[in-house]
Amino acid sequence: MSTKEEILKILENNRESSLSGQALASSLNISRTAVWKGIKALKEEGYAIESVTGKGYCLKSESDLLSAEGIALALNDPDINLIVLKTTGSTNQEAKARVIAGASHKTVVLSEEQTAGKGRMGRSFFSPNQTGIYMSLILKPDLEAADAVLMTAGAAVGVCRGIKKATGLETQIKWVNDVYYQNKKVCGILTEAGTDFESGMLSYLIIGIGLNVFVPEHDFPGEISGTAASLFNKKPDSLTRNRLAAQIINEVFEICDNLGNRSFIEEYRKRSLVIGHQIDVIRRNQEGRQAIVLDIDENGGLIVQYKNNEREILHSGEISIRKKDS
Ligand code: BTN
Repeated sequence: MSTKEEILKILENNRESSLSGQALASSLNISRTAVWKGIKALKEEGYAIESVTGKGYCLKSESDLLSAEGIALALNDPDINLIVLKTTGSTNQEAKARVIAGASHKTVVLSEEQTAGKGRMGRSFFSPNQTGIYMSLILKPDLEAADAVLMTAGAAVGVCRGIKKATGLETQIKWVNDVYYQNKKVCGILTEAGTDFESGMLSYLIIGIGLNVFVPEHDFPGEISGTAASLFNKKPDSLTRNRLAAQIINEVFEICDNLGNRSFIEEYRKRSLVIGHQIDVIRRNQEGRQAIVLDIDENGGLIVQYKNNEREILHSGEISIRKKDS
């Protein structure tokens, strides 16, 4: 860890308290000049650090940059490996490159912004600077390829639980893995898997989570302005994106570690926006087919019934919820 990161770790541990340059210097066994240089570098990066003569340095509650030091404070598992970037094309792409280069199970790549964020079905994901959480969790689970759907559903529940723990807000899930708050989409999840052809087992899973935390500076672009939203208009004093990211990471890994017992499926059903609703099942190059959603099965599949009473269990794809009167 660099001196700057060590200083940040101590400041994150003591948010809103002043620490003297001497105290920092002694605990890190460095000179006061080195402390001053580290603080200067952190301020230049954008950390809201107040320097008060006679009192020292204080990381203010409004400071909200993502950092490994800030996230690690609230993680349950000390073995999680965090990589925090200022910018990248896509954290899923970055994670894939790192998996190929040997990144370990439970590595998480986060970025303050994405310049080519990827959504499902070849769409893009709007990822403006410092207003969201864009992260990709690398898992190397002992699972068959077919279980990837289950893990995708588990990730959606993990995101909802993490949001609830960090903010108190209740969110819902639109099958298979969009997270909604007050009837608008606040989070999308893109799961990508690598499989071993011979064994049919997953060699890795990348769970990409894009959560809109605050309203972007110039709001959402026209094409998604009617459907997308953020959790907050303004940052609550007590919340940092670091803490929110950490809670989501905790919850998703917790579900992954206990995937076999499927205990999250009941919560998935309770949070579902689609059970009992009329939907259109959308298939590539085909018109939507009207159906009613009966339930979600133990593997996260969507049980639907078409107008001719034929039933089907959907494991992937796209659905759209029909307005009440259509
Ligand atoms: C969707 O709603 O269609 C899924 C969006 C997934 C977005 C996240 S942001 C972090 C990760 N990196 C990406 O490029 N995409 C996912």
